[in-house]
Amino acid sequence: MVVDVLIKDISQLITVKSGIKAKKGREMQNIGLIENGWIAIKENTIIGVGSGDIGSEFKIQEHTLIVDGKGKTVTPGLIDPHTHLVHGGSRENELALKLKGVPYLEILKKGGGILSTVRATQNSTLEELVNQSKKSLDRMLTYGVTTVEVKSGYGLEIDTEIKQLEAIDILNKQSNSDLVSTFMGAHAIPGEYRHNPDEFVDVVINEMLPIVAEKQLAEFCDVFCEEGVFSIDQTRKILKAAEKLGLKSKIHADEIISLGGAELAAELGVVSADHLMAASEEGLKMMAEKDVVAVALPGTSFNLAMGKYANVRKMIDYGLSVALATDYNPGSCPTENIQLIMSLGCLYLKMTPEEVISAVTINAAAAINREHEIGSIEIGKKADIVIFDAPNLYYIPYHFGVNHVDIVIKNGKIVVKEGRLI
Ligand code: NIG
Ligand code: FE
Repeated sequence: MVVDVLIKDISQLITVKSGIKAKKGREMQNIGLIENGWIAIKENTIIGVGSGDIGSEFKIQEHTLIVDGKGKTVTPGLIDPHTHLVHGGSRENELALKLKGVPYLEILKKGGGILSTVRATQNSTLEELVNQSKKSLDRMLTYGVTTVEVKSGYGLEIDTEIKQLEAIDILNKQSNSDLVSTFMGAHAIPGEYRHNPDEFVDVVINEMLPIVAEKQLAEFCDVFCEEGVFSIDQTRKILKAAEKLGLKSKIHADEIISLGGAELAAELGVVSADHLMAASEEGLKMMAEKDVVAVALPGTSFNLAMGKYANVRKMIDYGLSVALATDYNPGSCPTENIQLIMSLGCLYLKMTPEEVISAVTINAAAAINREHEIGSIEIGKKADIVIFDAPNLYYIPYHFGVNHVDIVIKNGKIVVKEGRLI
């Protein structure tokens, strides 16, 4: 077999060996570490993985690119399974409000928060949205993120929702990253429906969803299920309608108030339930039984600064597959830095570095239904690989807040070198 790219002498090769399945509970500790490892790539696929000398069945030719992995830690391309990447404007004005003690949901109630980003997004052209989002997407890639889930939800009316989804589609086609698209028309109640939110639910179901489905612009549907936003019944109604049109489901569940979002996630058998800072133990156990991936977003807890983090130790005890994501958005978590999220996972969610690696690779892949093609370094999977300038995996979350990426390989090609886009 002819090899196009060979990464050799890798000090710590983290394969996350898992086949095509998410890691549940204690399995998250097993990350398939190989010392003195190598990876062989042909075109955009991994064709060999091992330790020591590369086998004689692999042909190294003149064109073969050989990358030295000495002193480096290598992981699968990282996956960010929850972002609100595409939006207009920014919300630095909310920092002062937060410091004065104004709660996140209070800012939203007064027409700020998500609703102020809705105005900025409505006022942006498609081109402006693509350009602004491309900057963040490229930054994510330099941090080692090769696949990103992106939600709409800053339109709250069909034209802007479609504009956001089109921006996601354009970025998916034009950038080196892979994007997975989620329709989130039910992200907030627009001001004009404040007194009759059920009417807006009907608009989402009867007017928005059929157009989104027809244009095939989204793979998932997500709802912000929260007190004062969408109730359990409204969320159930929207996600059932979405499923009928062929969209898979996700829920922003039990972020601030314990509403029963985790229980609903289990009842509907959604692909992932995200946030879960206020989820009940019963709800988490029900999710484990239904194989719902729990996506924890410690950057949001950190930035909301309410001292409330998801109980990931319990989730792991209950046998849940836990993933981590940035939740990148202009309000509750304006950061693209997945490596910072990994540090917060260790420091505030009390996850081990091994569990954190599983959470940003195979389990993050499962949170967006991609575990069959990405999330581990195994024969047949996509050649999405990150080479960290770090002597071992512990170094990455330990030395926090900075970028440790040296090289990113996306689809078999080097796209980041010395931490910079090439
Ligand atoms: O996941 N919680 C709801 N939605 C986003 C925040 C969006 C915003 O504040 O703009 C989240 O945290
Ligand atoms: Fe979110």
